[in-house]
Order: sequence, then structure tokens, then C-alpha cells
Amino acid sequence: MSLLMEQLNESVAYIQQQIGAAVAPQIGIVLGSGLGNFKNELHVQVSIPYENIPHFPVSTVKGHHGQLLLAEVSGKQVLVMAGRFHFYEGYTPQQVAYPIRVMKLLGIHTLLLSNAAGGVNPAFQVGDVMIIKDHISFFTPNPLIGKNEEALGTRFPDMSEPYSKAIIAKAEAIAQELGIHVHKGVYTGVTGPTFETRAEYQLIKAIGGDVVGMSTVQENIVAVHAGMQVFAVSIITDLGIREEENVITHEEVLQAAKDAEPKLTAIFKRLIAEL
Ligand code: HPA
Repeated sequence: MSLLMEQLNESVAYIQQQIGAAVAPQIGIVLGSGLGNFKNELHVQVSIPYENIPHFPVSTVKGHHGQLLLAEVSGKQVLVMAGRFHFYEGYTPQQVAYPIRVMKLLGIHTLLLSNAAGGVNPAFQVGDVMIIKDHISFFTPNPLIGKNEEALGTRFPDMSEPYSKAIIAKAEAIAQELGIHVHKGVYTGVTGPTFETRAEYQLIKAIGGDVVGMSTVQENIVAVHAGMQVFAVSIITDLGIREEENVITHEEVLQAAKDAEPKLTAIFKRLIAEL
């Protein structure tokens, strides 16, 4: 067995020990920047600090890094990553996506991702919600570079449906019923940690991006490789594409994500019930 599979198995065994081997959540959720309030909607049963999980990426930042939660929401058991790993923090793409592989081996087949993103489509406003229908990942290293782990997936994965069309359709219907306006568009992954220059926002718009952000694509690729269904939503937190007033701060991004979060929470709750 490869070192990676050995490590994954050890992570999985530890988590199963904490949550109980008989418990088998099938839905995984990753909460993005400023979107941690979704936790309030959960009945948390078990909370595991990332640093306790064997082989989980070790935080370079002092203090908290996040927790893996076993929780109940909408009558379903879910596994929630409250806090994710970003490439700009210095993790390798493989480390960024490691927890997704752990989720897969725990039996998760559907992954819900959320993130805060910059609006590049001129029709978007701060606080809008965008369902990700596709992505551009060329600006960040692909997490599948290196020896392929055949036990997880194929060498050359098809990426024609990186985000499940069936789940997107469900989510659109739910949003409409709830009276929440949603866009549907293309997420462009970048490394960060700098926000984009004006020229870069223009480039991203020109190549077909609707939003830009520093997460999600590497997690998506590893999930698709492993045969998981993925659904992802961006909250638009800033509009760098505007020629005027495009000074962007992290505080502004977090605040905008927090303000718009109830929309995301409402959609996720209903969607989980229907998955
Ligand atoms: N660019 C990149 N990442 C982001 C942005 C942005 O404008 N907003 C939130 N995350």
C-alpha cells in the first residue's frame, strides 16, 4: 500500500474512533471564509480539532485552525469542515485537498463547498450568491500532479461535469421557492494571498470567469477524481472589477460573507434535506 493510502487509513481510523464506527455520514460540507455561522444550524455531536487527526495538515498559523464536526442538520448526519486549508498558507495542493480524500474514505459521496469570492461579472453585486457551474483552475497547481493513486481514481479524470448538474437544478428550484436570487457561473481559482490587480480582474473576466477566489478548485478536483458529486456556492464579497473604488480588504470580505450567509444557510439546509 502507498504511504498516502496508509496515512489516509490512519486518519480515517482515528475519526471513526471518535464518531463511532457505525456512524456513516454521506454528505460532507466545507465552510468558507466568513461562513462559519452555518455551525449554529447544526446539532453538533462530535467535534474533532484538526490538530488531533493523524496526518491532517499541520497549521502554520498560531492558534485555531479548525475542526471536523459530526453533526445533524435537516434530519441527516453530515461531516463538516469548519475551516479549510488554503494554498496561500503554504500547504501543498495535496495537503489542501487531503481532508477531502479522508471524507471520501469515510463514505462521503456528496460534497457541498462554500466560499467567499470576488465578483468579476459586472452584473454581480456584493452579497449576491452564485452557484458554481464550472471552474478555471489553471492558475493554481493541480493537486493530482504526481504519482496517481489508483485506489482513489483514474490518472486522467474527466472534468466535463465538475459540479453536479442534478444538484444544481435542485438548488436552483429551492432558491426560487425561498425567493433567493442566485446567479450561476464560473469560479476562477487563484493562489492569493494578494487580491487581484485591475489588469488581473480584467483578464479573469476576459477568459470567462464570473468570480475569483483562493480556494475550492483543488478540493473539487480531488473530489471529482475520487468519484464524489460536488456542489459549490460563492458569496460575492467584493467587486474588484470596478475601475473605481476597488480597494479590497480582508475585513470587508469577511463582513460581506457574514451578511449574506443566511441565504447560503437557507439553501444548504433545504438542499441537505433533499439529497
Ligand atoms: N479575489 C480573490 N479572492 C477573493 C476575492 C477576490 O476579489 N474576494 C474574496 N476572495
